[in-house]
Amino acid sequence: MTERTLILIKPDAVSRGYIGEVLGRIERKGLTIAALELKNVSNELASSHYAEHAERPFFGSLLEFITSGPVVAAVVEGPRAIAAFRQLAGGTDPVEKATPGTIRGDLALETQENLVHGSDSAESAAREIALWFPELSNA
Ligand code: TYD
Ligand code: MG
Repeated sequence: MTERTLILIKPDAVSRGYIGEVLGRIERKGLTIAALELKNVSNELASSHYAEHAERPFFGSLLEFITSGPVVAAVVEGPRAIAAFRQLAGGTDPVEKATPGTIRGDLALETQENLVHGSDSAESAAREIALWFPELSNA
């Protein structure tokens, strides 16, 4: 069963030169890149994307970070793509949760600057793909 997920290569990963590293891991896993864009993120897009965290203490800082430089947004496709990319990314905290071998476990130190985003469910993926790539939704 093929699935789509929305992934972001966050500003820290872009500025550290890890676009190719992240896309390479996605491709090596066997997933397909169905859409890809380098994008400056408005405050509006950032707050919609992270709406579920609006009440969390780190929300302001998270918005500042995600709008601090360009991100690469992509739609990634394949069997169990949502879980497969979350596995590639590793846990949210790059030290306590992400294990070596994952993007975060290998390349990040801080929870906020954890390099990548991947949708966490089919519902989130549909919402996030519509948000970042409205041209792909047939509404
Ligand atoms: P979350 O959706 O919980 O993590 P994930 O990216 O693994 O789905 O949180 C969204 C982002 O918010 C997370 O990638 C990094 C940031 N964040 C913090 O800065 N501090 C925190 O305590 C948490 C939980 C997340
Ligand atoms: Mg999340």
